[in-house]
Amino acid sequence: MKAFPISDRIYALHADVKTEDLFEGIWPIPDGVSLNSYLVKGDKIALIDLVRDWGGATAALESELSQAGVKLADVDYLVLNHLEPDHTGWLAEYRRLNPKVQIISTAKGVELVKSFYKVTEGLRAVKTGDELDLGSGLVLKFFETPNVHWPETMMSYEPSTGTLFSCDGFGSFGMLGDRIFDDQFSAEEHRRLEAESLRYYANIVASFGLFVRKAVEKLAGLELKVVAPSHGIVWRRDPMAIVGRYLKYAGWLEGGRDKEVCVVWGSMYGNTERGLKAVLAGLEDEGMPYVMHRVPNQDVSYILADAYRCEGILVAMPTYEYKMFPPMAYALDIFERKHVWGRSALRIGSWGWIGGAKKEYEEAIAPLKWNCLESVEWAGGAGPETLELLRERGRELARRVREAK
Ligand code: FEO
Repeated sequence: MKAFPISDRIYALHADVKTEDLFEGIWPIPDGVSLNSYLVKGDKIALIDLVRDWGGATAALESELSQAGVKLADVDYLVLNHLEPDHTGWLAEYRRLNPKVQIISTAKGVELVKSFYKVTEGLRAVKTGDELDLGSGLVLKFFETPNVHWPETMMSYEPSTGTLFSCDGFGSFGMLGDRIFDDQFSAEEHRRLEAESLRYYANIVASFGLFVRKAVEKLAGLELKVVAPSHGIVWRRDPMAIVGRYLKYAGWLEGGRDKEVCVVWGSMYGNTERGLKAVLAGLEDEGMPYVMHRVPNQDVSYILADAYRCEGILVAMPTYEYKMFPPMAYALDIFERKHVWGRSALRIGSWGWIGGAKKEYEEAIAPLKWNCLESVEWAGGAGPETLELLRERGRELARRVREAK
């Protein structure tokens, strides 16, 4: 890995992490994730965001600092925009290696430094509007951006280069290899990475869409020439592309979602699956596209990404021991936590000796305020009349999705 100059005095330091670990202990990252830190070399030296000791990230950071002519102990200020341990896990060890470094974060961030790492000296709390003059014309200005996605989060801005260090905000899953800037990737690579930025947003940030908007409003007066998150691409050719993408994702809380149906389904012995095929035929009658996710086979991380962008949700599951099919219950719980609100929805499913999924399902989705068609349930295998009803419900769902705002 190499240090990437953003300007003659600002560098992106980048580690690709390829790991079997789950991100946050929940979300799979088969294509890895990048951890980006930033070096700002004025007369004083600032390092923005750290790493955890994960997949060689600490060694990469030390090596890339060295390429930029800086040793770990040379850093005067460690700016922590966000305290989640993917950006701070190495903090206690780093402080031992560089005892003089002053750690800068928001007041809430400072408290998290103490609670996570038991570091109590050399801490400085900053708030919106505060500045850190590094000399030689380089200044860092701080903007509190709470709940993007933890309460202590802030962003840092360097005015002479127009660089915004946004940490998790405007970030993405996925490794970058030996490139880091938006203009170094092909259109096809951007499409792949955009899918990973949607999944990252849906998994990590979606519960805080309203705060994403507030953060962007707070930054509105800044001239953004470079958007430099701590995961994923650094945007210098088109910095507003990633800002606009995040605003689009945040806007999906209210509408404007893709005219497509996210099908989430599970089936024990094929009866619900046969009914589902009739609904899919109805969607196809209306030319409505759909994307399929079977539970528990598909990880909820990917289901969430499609549920987040699609206007339609089709839930197909049998009753299991008087209640919902358990992996569906988990998926719906995640939908509630991640604010998959206001969708056009249909639920179908078979039951064996008695129903029960319907009641629990309706309780689970009540907070989501979905615009629901009447559910279709049947005992055992669906007969011809039920199959025709299911097909018609598919057509109705397609029309409802098409008409939604
Ligand atoms: Fe990349 Fe919220 O940590």
